[in-house]
Amino acid sequence: MATIIELTLNGRKRVDAVPGHRLLLDYLRETAGLTGTKTGCDGGECGACTVLVDDKPVLSCLTLAATVGGKRVDTVESLGRGSALSAVQRGFHEKLGSQCGYCTPGFIMASAGLLRRNPQPTEPEIREALGSNICRCTGYVKIIEAVQHAAALLGSGEAAAP
Ligand code: FES
Ligand code: FES
Repeated sequence: MATIIELTLNGRKRVDAVPGHRLLLDYLRETAGLTGTKTGCDGGECGACTVLVDDKPVLSCLTLAATVGGKRVDTVESLGRGSALSAVQRGFHEKLGSQCGYCTPGFIMASAGLLRRNPQPTEPEIREALGSNICRCTGYVKIIEAVQHAAALLGSGEAAAP
């Protein structure tokens, strides 16, 4: 049986009928056409599918689409304005926080969620916030530096939004 959900997706209202078993990950990629959110392990282990629901990081592979009615969902496509990158996008770009890039949308959204809650996190706070995300390429050092750089950009006013 389908459920009608009305949500704000990347700043725009939309209404969809979703089957009760439809995962948020599949809804985003297949119904909404937002393929920036990646399918990794498909089982809650890797964080590649991370999106923000009311500013909190959630694993979209473990979330039913029917539960996001009335909520604000942000995917990696929501970041930046035109050609201007957000702080976290700039952080990953300028500090080389991405190699193959498959994990990057999940890391970026987990980082954006952190910086919305806590714009000047300590390194342990960054590590804790990214603890559910796995990267097989970078060794994590560049990712931590990317988030620290994003926080510095926010602090100096060089970037307006995480
Ligand atoms: S695809 Fe969701 S945690 Fe891996
Ligand atoms: S950049 Fe390749 S898995 Fe993270």
